[in-house]
Amino acid sequence: LISDVRLRRVLDSRGNPTVEAEVVTENGGFGRGAAPSGASTGEYEAIELPASEAIAKAREKAVPRLVGEAYAGDQRGIDDVLHGADGTDDFSEIGANSAVAISMAAAKAGADVQGIPLYQHLGGAFRGRNFPVPLGNVIGGGEHAADATHIQEFLAAPVGAPSVSEAVFANAAVHGAVHDILAERDVPAGKGDEGAWAPSIDDSEAFEIMAEAVEAVEDEVGFEIRFGLDMAGAELYDADAEVYRYGQKERDTAEQIEYVADLVSEYDLVYVEDPLDENDYEAFAELTDEVGDQTLICGDDLFVTNTDRLAEGIEVGAANSILIKPNQIGTLTDAFDAIELAVENGYEPVVSHRSGETEDTTIAHLAVATDAPFIKTGAVGGERTAKLNELIRIEDNA
Ligand code: PGA
Ligand code: ZN
Repeated sequence: LISDVRLRRVLDSRGNPTVEAEVVTENGGFGRGAAPSGASTGEYEAIELPASEAIAKAREKAVPRLVGEAYAGDQRGIDDVLHGADGTDDFSEIGANSAVAISMAAAKAGADVQGIPLYQHLGGAFRGRNFPVPLGNVIGGGEHAADATHIQEFLAAPVGAPSVSEAVFANAAVHGAVHDILAERDVPAGKGDEGAWAPSIDDSEAFEIMAEAVEAVEDEVGFEIRFGLDMAGAELYDADAEVYRYGQKERDTAEQIEYVADLVSEYDLVYVEDPLDENDYEAFAELTDEVGDQTLICGDDLFVTNTDRLAEGIEVGAANSILIKPNQIGTLTDAFDAIELAVENGYEPVVSHRSGETEDTTIAHLAVATDAPFIKTGAVGGERTAKLNELIRIEDNA
């Protein structure tokens, strides 16, 4: 039985307060989890409250229903209690940030009680044979950096890597190669929120640099590296004018679909996330129909890890992949159910960090536990390497 749930404010990687939870059990189990936070958040995500408010509400409504009442190892039970304590369908009462921190802390306490790694507790005892390929954000802009590319993320994808460890080092090498190419071109660059280079260049130059960097590292390591994108289409889309805006340049929906299809062919993209607006299932379906056999079309803001929204997408053939962010939906159980629904319907689940992160490593375990083909958790920076290094450890100990 859970004997204590502690909640506190800690820093996230942007320096904002976020919720950390600790779950303690009567038989000496302990788990700690912290909520991440998005910048380019989807319209339909579960609600993040200011950390202090989320903590106060969770202490009042959720903690009394957990302490002395619930078992840490019973993840569905814990997550049901969180939903019951909240009473809304979007965690707007206790905050999805409190909910996800408690959900993750409970899972770790459950694993700790059994003395097994978290990925095994999350169902990975017979999984984890195929480790996820890390998607490494190496150039980016959008809502993650001012005065940089319009496309939010350019992602290295070491699809031919023989191990997670080699994949993680390859992404860091691509990150380094991008820096060298920028230096050769005399382009100064700081970093965005996820540690990607954020140069003031247009998107077409970023594509050139990606192609060059990936090829250079591919030659060095001797396995296939491709790349992909997170276009964060909802941020580009101007709903009043019904166009996607790239600075002065604009594209209507049909032109956006053609643009993305051309990029997929020209650069052999392995992955394109949110190429279109989060409300446009139809356009997603059209693009998926056109290029879905060549590349993953992934819904992030489109699906927000929500099984109802995913079911709607499955119905019309919108996308063929779903981004999984536990804090978008509020609990590990909900994230797990979204993964199951996706896999049953041939949609590839991609487990993901947020732009605002902590040292929490739960998503590394979730990706291994569910045999997710990809995990998106950056390439460099302590809050990103926390997950990447955890993947290396899981692989090494498996
Ligand atoms: P966010 O960005 O965490 O700021 O939402 C990540 C993403 O869009 O995938
Ligand atoms: Zn995204």
